[in-house]
Amino acid sequence: MAIAFKQETFRDDFSYRNSPGNIRRFPFPFDRDEYMYSVNMEPHVRGRADTVYENLIDVDEHYVAEMRDRALVLKEDPLRYQALPHMMSAQWDTLELLMEEQAAGYPDHFTLIRSGDQWRWINRPLGIDDSFTFGDASTLPCEPFEYITRQAQGDFCIVDQRDGNLWMDAGMVTTQADWSLDFDIGMNFMEWHGPVPLAHQIGVFDRALKFLLNLQQGKPTRRFNWTMTINPRLDTSPENYHKWGPDRTTVTPDNVGEKVHLRVELQSLWRLPRSNAILFVIRCYLMNMEELATVPKWARRFPRVLKTLPPELIDYKGLTRFRETTIDWFSKYDDGAPTSPGI
Ligand code: HEM
Repeated sequence: MAIAFKQETFRDDFSYRNSPGNIRRFPFPFDRDEYMYSVNMEPHVRGRADTVYENLIDVDEHYVAEMRDRALVLKEDPLRYQALPHMMSAQWDTLELLMEEQAAGYPDHFTLIRSGDQWRWINRPLGIDDSFTFGDASTLPCEPFEYITRQAQGDFCIVDQRDGNLWMDAGMVTTQADWSLDFDIGMNFMEWHGPVPLAHQIGVFDRALKFLLNLQQGKPTRRFNWTMTINPRLDTSPENYHKWGPDRTTVTPDNVGEKVHLRVELQSLWRLPRSNAILFVIRCYLMNMEELATVPKWARRFPRVLKTLPPELIDYKGLTRFRETTIDWFSKYDDGAPTSPGI
């Protein structure tokens, strides 16, 4: 079915909102009333219609606006896209994967026509119709990884596997929750996860790395991560901290509903066929507290998660300045009823 793409902004007047249909498909990530890091990985398989699992690469009503925001970020700061020279084969792997998945999932919007290495890619929402030679970067307007990730929602890292570790050797990162590709490029799995509290001590990263080193082609895996953002801003990068950091001090009891957002990342990991690298997709979903509160079980659960969050996570996720105001705002929705595990 054709998607009605919204005209909206993730900066300045922040006109981003979710339609009622998009709220219903929001991937609320909590299956109980408290949260702690874990190796929360499961097979990335297709799910029911009208959920974010309907297709393995999800496109929604925010697609066009997100791609416009990415173009603005890249114009201001081209280093949000980087790929080390040995990643060219992984770049083509990624282009193939994203074109195939988008064309298969959304035939009204995307078409891929192949004749040997002569490919034609039609992206109707963005008005693109390009023919190129697969494997020959000179036939595209930019590198293949940049080309396709300017046309796909979410951030993307490609990690190279060598010496029993994973290395962040390419990325398109314009919608990140306060980390920097320019800082992390060339680092390994343990190094770029260095700042994360508690998870190293409980063995999360040792187990996750072991799992990923054995990831098989054709069997992608997924997990959720989450944080909170003030205003529906996609680009919460360290590079632009001066623009969004002060927003955290602007939350009052009157503006919680509109200003405070739950930011959920549906992360999927894919073994790539030619390069043996892994594509890490960080698909970001934003929802303000008013929208969240339209689903009663979420309105009960979310403040309980916030109340019981370990102090280290409150600090790391940057919630200190507005967590209590948000919990108080939800008190009108929490009747104390128990919630069921797993919803
Ligand atoms: C945070 C990248 C896979 C668990 C992060 C950060 C980055 C990152 C850049 C931010 C660190 C900072 O503060 O600077 C990646 C990449 C992955 C990957 C490229 C794939 C190769 C995983 C996996 C797990 C995991 C498989 C599973 C347990 C976490 C956790 C955090 C984190 C718990 C903290 C998030 C938060 O509290 O907001 N990751 N990660 N990561 N990562 Fe990963």
